[in-house]
Amino acid sequence: MDEHNRPIHTFQVCNVMEPNQNNWLRSNWISRQAAQKVYVELRFTLRDCNSIPWVSGTCKETFNLFYHETDEAHGVKFRPAQYTKIDTIAADESFTQMDLGDRILKLNTEVREVGPINRKGFYLAFQDIGACIALVSVRVYYKKCPFTLRNLASFPDTVPRVDSSSLVEVRGACVDHAEERDTPKLFCGADGDWLVPLGRCVCSVGYEEIDACRPGFYKAYAGNIKCSKCPPHSFSYGEASAICRCEKGFFRAEKDPPTMACTRPPSRPRNLMFNLNDTCLLLEWSPPSDTGGRRDLTYNVQCKRCGPEPDRCQQCEDELRFLPGPLGLTNATVTVVDFSAHANYTFEIESLNGVSDMSSFPRPVAIITVSTDQGGPSLVGALKKDWASPNSIALSWQQPEQTTLPIIDYEVKYYEKEHELLSYSSTRTKAPSVIVSGLKPATWYVFSVRTRTAAGYSSYSPKYEYETTGDCKYLRQSKVLFLLNQSFSVFSRCQWYFKAKMTSEDKRRANYQNGHVPYPGIKTYVDPDTYEDPTQAVHEFTKEIDPSRIRIERVIGAGEFGEVCSGRLRTPGKKEIAVAIKTLKGGYVERQRWDFLREASIMGQFDHPNIIRLEGVVTKSRPVMIVVEYMENGSLDSFLRQHDGHFTVIQLVGMLRGIASGMKYLSDMGYVHRDLAARNILVNSNLVCKVSDFGLSRVLEDDPEAAYTTTGGKIPIRWTAPEAISYRKFSSASDAWSYGIVMWEVMSYGERPYWEMSNQDVILSIEEGYRLPAPMGCPVALHQLMLHCWQKERNHRPKFTDIVSFLDKLIRNPSSLLPLVEDIQSQSDINLAQ
Ligand code: ADE
Repeated sequence: MDEHNRPIHTFQVCNVMEPNQNNWLRSNWISRQAAQKVYVELRFTLRDCNSIPWVSGTCKETFNLFYHETDEAHGVKFRPAQYTKIDTIAADESFTQMDLGDRILKLNTEVREVGPINRKGFYLAFQDIGACIALVSVRVYYKKCPFTLRNLASFPDTVPRVDSSSLVEVRGACVDHAEERDTPKLFCGADGDWLVPLGRCVCSVGYEEIDACRPGFYKAYAGNIKCSKCPPHSFSYGEASAICRCEKGFFRAEKDPPTMACTRPPSRPRNLMFNLNDTCLLLEWSPPSDTGGRRDLTYNVQCKRCGPEPDRCQQCEDELRFLPGPLGLTNATVTVVDFSAHANYTFEIESLNGVSDMSSFPRPVAIITVSTDQGGPSLVGALKKDWASPNSIALSWQQPEQTTLPIIDYEVKYYEKEHELLSYSSTRTKAPSVIVSGLKPATWYVFSVRTRTAAGYSSYSPKYEYETTGDCKYLRQSKVLFLLNQSFSVFSRCQWYFKAKMTSEDKRRANYQNGHVPYPGIKTYVDPDTYEDPTQAVHEFTKEIDPSRIRIERVIGAGEFGEVCSGRLRTPGKKEIAVAIKTLKGGYVERQRWDFLREASIMGQFDHPNIIRLEGVVTKSRPVMIVVEYMENGSLDSFLRQHDGHFTVIQLVGMLRGIASGMKYLSDMGYVHRDLAARNILVNSNLVCKVSDFGLSRVLEDDPEAAYTTTGGKIPIRWTAPEAISYRKFSSASDAWSYGIVMWEVMSYGERPYWEMSNQDVILSIEEGYRLPAPMGCPVALHQLMLHCWQKERNHRPKFTDIVSFLDKLIRNPSSLLPLVEDIQSQSDINLAQ
């Protein structure tokens, strides 16, 4: 009877009273199938010899398990000598007469590995040497990593290697309508578990994870993003559109990305004016009211010289000289020289943009006719600033020397330099001086003056730029900054003298002189490369671990220097903890050993809940190891891809808050990461995100995303701020740009920034002002923060402390996360339609 009191069939033997027992039971032939190693699970009961009287010499408490490999499935005669012993099997639990009486079943389960098996199949055999046994069941099985779908790739059933420490590398095949991004791979472990997912497939253009894009939507890049609504002024009628077509009258220039709205040529320039003196004619105008939705606005100037009859005009560009030139002007002004003194010139200014050539309509122009006969009122002399206060500027100028008619008054035109295009103000004065008031403190203004006589207005004087003074607070601040700058520059001149002799305290101070201002109570990071002897840096910032405290359990990945493993670390008096262990493989040179340990010397200086914690290093024995806390969910990018759509916005913002807090800590310490990206963030089982991958130049060597720039630097282009790409200006502000990209990666569940665009196209689009659009389901507040991080001017980007407090406010007030970018967009589409 089994434990549920149901009858079962067993093989039994119980010749415990007779000596020299040798009883055999043999299985049928068992096909090996795909297995190389098989497992045999035996369930049996065994009688305790002590509980049987008079059997002390003859009763046994073990039996033997054997196997024999053959290719033939039938007709093999049983010859015990051909059999190989697998093991002697003993019971953990044996039963007594009393147990029998109480109907207690003491069932034993034992598993043995058999292999490698090379023939087509095998027999199992059991040898009894005098025990009292009942064999209840024999289960023979092998382990395989089962067919699976991961990251849109399928992986076939795979049998592990016999050698349990090596993994089988398996390449996945992309599912229909998906294509390879990085070769999708999984590793099949000895226990039949799939490990270390690498690479992935992504949905082809025109497809999202379940469907083709609907009409009105498109998907231009392969990737696991959703189809997007057609950009403004474009449409798609059919399904699975890779791009949306432009509405009539709107166009897409050759280099415009498919995500960009369709645009049209600009309207004509406005407010065309001239300013004439003996040798120079200045033409000025305001930009068109409609730029067509583009930023690549330029102007062309054409000239006609007309005789007394206005219809008898001839082209005159070749007679005159235009500075900087007649075509492709980017500023709304041009200077004309070499003109005749008594002529009528008609100038036509046309505005153009990147799609002007695509439109068949004539280009709208602004026209002005200039007579170089200067009979009218004359220009005033140079404009001088007499004084300035925070809200006023006093100007004066010389009266025109000869005026045929009396001067009625002067008109002073002025505007804020930064807002040239928005509006201007004017004031009149009879005297050749004026106090312009109502101005903003510490702001640049542009002024020009013209004279009015009975014959009309003169042309405007050239423009003069003057600044109002700052208020007191501003003055104090700028003085402090000035003083700080002064002392920094004195330090930096002599810093190379003492670099080699510095203590770590000196080095901390040196960082400070390099531009980092330490915070009271916060340590400053010391660059381990400033040590003459790198071993000293390792010694100072890391703890040596005795390798006997480390137990390596499995390989979880491969780094540039060797395997990355998971395992356990014992510390006397403390609870054993899970750790990740990076190893340095043998055959390294000293330089590689230092490159490997540099990361530990950096990590060892940090102590923050959002920075990966260094437990210690092994340097006194081989292999050299770096031991860090174990992060159960691995790197953030693959974690998010595996859990696409699984988290609430608050959870995602919580992850971003953690990363920002870690980065705030690093920037407060004066450490610039240079390779902040979701792939370099690790996630633990509580979804806490921690910044990892330190090592300055080395991290970039390691990072598969880092590409060589034209100046020879190796940089992860998609994550890097423009000034760092162009002239290697890395700073906490460039880290803030990368943080914006990480925000985008998080909100899009691990999508690749800028999808399939080439690095070159990414650089050009950023330069032209293109920025990543909000991912699906992204709250407006978060996309606004991303855009803030991607400001071209690095000083305008938020500091990490601002980012942390902003995210904290969102978390405290979750309703601020409700407006989604797509909701706002569709509402504005409805408004437009109405
Ligand atoms: N891979 C690299 N470092 C790791 C860590 N600390 N935990 C888990 N996986 C890792």
